[in-house]
Amino acid sequence: MEIKKVGVLGCGLMGSGIAQVSATAGFEVTVLEVEQKFLDKGFAGIEKSLAKFAEKGTLKETPQAVRARLKGTTNMQDLADCDIVVEAVIENIVEKKKMYAALDAIAKKDAIFATNTSSISVTELMSATKRPERFIGLHFFNPVALMKLVEVVKTIATAPDVYDTAYEFGKKLGKVPVRTSDKTGFIVNRLLVPYLLDAVRAYEEGVGSIEDIDNAMKLGCGYPMGPLTLLDFVGLDTTYYITHVMYDEFKERRFASPPLLKRLVMAGWYGKKTGKGFYDYSDPSNPKPNKL
Ligand code: CAA
Repeated sequence: MEIKKVGVLGCGLMGSGIAQVSATAGFEVTVLEVEQKFLDKGFAGIEKSLAKFAEKGTLKETPQAVRARLKGTTNMQDLADCDIVVEAVIENIVEKKKMYAALDAIAKKDAIFATNTSSISVTELMSATKRPERFIGLHFFNPVALMKLVEVVKTIATAPDVYDTAYEFGKKLGKVPVRTSDKTGFIVNRLLVPYLLDAVRAYEEGVGSIEDIDNAMKLGCGYPMGPLTLLDFVGLDTTYYITHVMYDEFKERRFASPPLLKRLVMAGWYGKKTGKGFYDYSDPSNPKPNKL
């Protein structure tokens, strides 16, 4: 099948990024949110990002031409004619399943449903619909506009042609798709999460300071961000949630949350988005390590 119209559920960091790359690739995009103010915030971020690309000369069209392909809505009915719907709402299994069940009754019979979940079982989400063979995972990375990867996740029920269509869709978005299957964490988080948690444990055990652990991995391994900076960037609440799902699945200590991560989350220090995590972002251009 040919994908022409894309639906996106959620206009947060990930949803707005997915909407942006879809519109940039030439697709007509409709983004669903619960309230107009979330659409306004997401679209403002998209416009800023498109302006940056235009400034650098990496956008084939004007930002306005890309923006014209993006529509926001608070009415799910507006997704009825989408060929693919990518869901990027909060990582709450009950909420996601509710949305899928409602969308299943509205969307075209042959529409593909994709979830951007980073840790919830794609198979479990699929079970909320009557289209198991047309359900896949498309896991993007933050910031979506810049990160080149998309994990294309199949379940035991995914039809091969649906998988191939989704894989090609990933390519059309300018991403490099990798093939993976519905095992918690897929490829990236299976490897990344234990590394990030080990960085927290190293700090807890006094192996190094926050800055030294980050500099060690940045300068010693060529990573763009140190692990504690990356944790603040991804969100400590998000990572904490992922640890639960992964630990529950594998029952291995490497996926369990270190006590410090839990304390930071309980204190409401979620990282960059709340202004505090391993670093203090009072001056966003010059984050300072917190005394933890
Ligand atoms: N849109 C357009 N341009 C943007 C942008 C955006 N949203 N964000 C940044 N840029 C531009 C900047 O303006 C800058 O442009 P110039 O070079 O012209 O100045 C350029 O991109 C680089 O940005 P910065 O100088 O701010 O910072 P940087 O060089 O460190 O790059 C980064 C930023 C790409 C985020 C880089 O630090 C990086 O790759 N970090 C690691 C990110 C990562 O690992 N993400 C995955 C997290 S895991 C996940 O998402 C999945 C999960 O399930 C948890």
